[in-house]
Amino acid sequence: MSKITEILKTMDYGVAPEGNEHVVKWLDGHQHSFKHFINGQFLPSADGAQFEVLAPATGETLAMVAQGGMPEVDAAVASARRAYKSWSALPGNARARYLYALARLLQKRERFFSVLESMDNGKPIRESRDIDIPLAVRHFYHHAGWADLIETEYAGYTSVGVCGQIIPWNFPLLMLAWKIAPALAAGNTVVLKPAEYTPLTALAFAELCQEAGIPPGVVNIVTGDGETGALIVEHNDIDKIAFTGSTEVGRAIRIATAGTGKKLSLELGGKSPFIVFDDADLDSAVEGVVDAIWFNQGQVCCAGSRLLVQESVANRFHDKLKARASKLRVGDPLDKSTDVGAIVSEVQLKRIESLVAQGRAESGECWQPAHALPGRGFFFPPTLFTGVAPAATVAQEEIFGPVLVSTTFRTHDEALSLANNSRYGLAASIWSENINVALDAASRVKAGVVWINSTNLFDAAAGFGGYRESGFGREGGREGLYEYLKPRVAADKSGKTKSTVLAAPAVAPIAAGDAIAGSPTLDHTAKLYIGGKQARPDGGNSYTVFSAAGKPLGQAGLGNRKDIRNAVEAAHAASGWSGYTAHNRAQVLFFLAENLEQRSDEFARRLQALTGGSLAQAKMEVTQSVSRIMFYAAYADKYDGAVHPTRTRNVTLAMPEPWGVMGLTCPDDAPLLSMISLVMPAIAIGNRVVVVPSTASALIATDFYQVLETSDVPGGVINIVTGERDVLAKTMAEHDDIAALWYFGGSDGGKMVERASSGNLKATWVHSGNCDWRSTSGQGREFLQKASQIKNIWVPYGE
Ligand code: NAI
Repeated sequence: MSKITEILKTMDYGVAPEGNEHVVKWLDGHQHSFKHFINGQFLPSADGAQFEVLAPATGETLAMVAQGGMPEVDAAVASARRAYKSWSALPGNARARYLYALARLLQKRERFFSVLESMDNGKPIRESRDIDIPLAVRHFYHHAGWADLIETEYAGYTSVGVCGQIIPWNFPLLMLAWKIAPALAAGNTVVLKPAEYTPLTALAFAELCQEAGIPPGVVNIVTGDGETGALIVEHNDIDKIAFTGSTEVGRAIRIATAGTGKKLSLELGGKSPFIVFDDADLDSAVEGVVDAIWFNQGQVCCAGSRLLVQESVANRFHDKLKARASKLRVGDPLDKSTDVGAIVSEVQLKRIESLVAQGRAESGECWQPAHALPGRGFFFPPTLFTGVAPAATVAQEEIFGPVLVSTTFRTHDEALSLANNSRYGLAASIWSENINVALDAASRVKAGVVWINSTNLFDAAAGFGGYRESGFGREGGREGLYEYLKPRVAADKSGKTKSTVLAAPAVAPIAAGDAIAGSPTLDHTAKLYIGGKQARPDGGNSYTVFSAAGKPLGQAGLGNRKDIRNAVEAAHAASGWSGYTAHNRAQVLFFLAENLEQRSDEFARRLQALTGGSLAQAKMEVTQSVSRIMFYAAYADKYDGAVHPTRTRNVTLAMPEPWGVMGLTCPDDAPLLSMISLVMPAIAIGNRVVVVPSTASALIATDFYQVLETSDVPGGVINIVTGERDVLAKTMAEHDDIAALWYFGGSDGGKMVERASSGNLKATWVHSGNCDWRSTSGQGREFLQKASQIKNIWVPYGE
């Protein structure tokens, strides 16, 4: 007779297929042919064009879907615009009821949506059933609540308008929920384009919108490929674009929207580190890796695709991981015991295959389990590369497949420098039983989402989004709502208002030290201020700064590309400022205010000469500047984060962090006050800044560095480069080591800045309209919010 242990060894999983008759019936009912959802109705493309949608697990055709062109995009945008007026004017509670109805309907159809999603995308039913669809439902419930609370919780903000939303294929319905729920809650209307590989759950969702009685035009769904997406991006009656997808397309969208005044949020790719310290619970960490890289076949923007494991435990960890990965079942997505389903398309499969071939060629050791893959459909086995150099292609490029790349480290510092050795910064997973080690790593890793002893946790109450080339803006949580709101003062569509900011005058360089005819009062040539020291401009050139009456007042340095580079370097070297306690930063700012006040008269006279106003006005500007410094000194230790009430047993900390090095380009209006209004919130948060002051009034900035010299602001925290504003702004926009750039100037300059910033996808804040620096709208939380990015750190507790 066989022993039980012997029987267990021979036992295999039986097949456990999830029934899909209801979905097949739905597809049959539509004759496998689908139209756009525009103004509450299903409409074909004017030219009848369609594209084919395949089931990745079999390669068979699931449906033909309308390919949207200009007429459909136009119609959808027009319908969203019409609906916007009444939708945005509804009381929050009314919008809450609609969102609640959508949540309820979706919840009641969870099984239908899960099966349809798995058929369309190829993901295991276990995942669509337990993760994607319940989270989508949760998003609608959560944002139904926000619709009710927005007026109270976001007083002073209003909806943005018509939103174009473009989503990818890896979490089709979940990404739709992440986009539509907050947009509608805040009072916007939407035109959403699902990915061409996976449009079906979005179209089924459109039917729910009809059923829930969502007013026509509030939700429009236009299907099609990247060309349809581009038409949405370029449409001039859209106020905001929200995009999730590849960094390459994100960059193209940044360029296409430059200068249009469209609000933009980008959720892009990643190459997220999964760090295992030697004191981690290795068995739990192995399970973590399974979720990090083999969940959804690794087609996850925040996949933990770079395993960094401490050398002392690396061999043991790799052995455990291989043993576990050998047991993963790859196959039919509709089988309830499948762990790894199909890759979304043949194109993606080929891309994964070619990157893995490149990885093998670059000498990494490649391991895959022995078992065979299904005979048809698009499948790829769980794959582990070990011994890979950090610079190898597979260690740097987003593979977007079930491919893990492992590197070892010796020390804590080495782990962090490897983790941060990426152009991306979406997520990180950190494994250690020592809370100090884990939290220290969490604070140092450059990522928008950090999971401690856990991975791939999502919830509507927590923000999600990246640092660096992983994009900007957040989705979910309190912070995600900002993407669908704008301050009421800018309700006249900022960027499209008539600019009253003077364009920077072109300046003719003259050799430093040249005498200026007829101006005997000239006594010195102001230098630049870099790294806490006065510095001669690299080119040795200066330009004349005139009074409002046209009289030469002095010379300012004509900074160039090299000066900006030096200033950025100095700002990076001053990283200690970001580590100051908030209390210390506040003290430094208070002392700065004190110092400026002591020189009020001198500053007022300079301002009067530069601006041509009365002495009383100039004095008022100095007084307001002192108050503004005090305002941000006060905020330095009060602009705090939140603990999000996420569903699972986690403390989820939303921490505002400084960008690091910021570029600030100042307007001509109220030259001292406006410069102070930009610099102070940035440094109060802990950023270091490179400031390009008003070209015409540069001398007020060079006077200000004399105040800095007598203050406690460490060298390199504030760097001042004078010269032609737009020339210097372009250099800053193109600089890869500047993480965020504010541009207050003319609309042409704003467009140039947004375009040029696409290189490292830095966050930009371009303001070409009026800003009343003298009133309270020239200060506030909006500035602090734009000076920081939120990092969500998930800390689990309990067993
Ligand atoms: P993609 O970025 O081309 O597609 C995402 C969405 O953007 C789709 O709806 C697509 O139709 C649309 N789109 C494409 N070109 C557009 C354009 N010029 N203007 C507006 N919309 C446009 O991603 P793709 O080609 O499907 O995948 C390529 C790689 O991108 C993947 O291997 C992966 O590395 C990355 N990716 C990252 C995602 C993420 O969530 N971060 C999601 C999908 C892909």
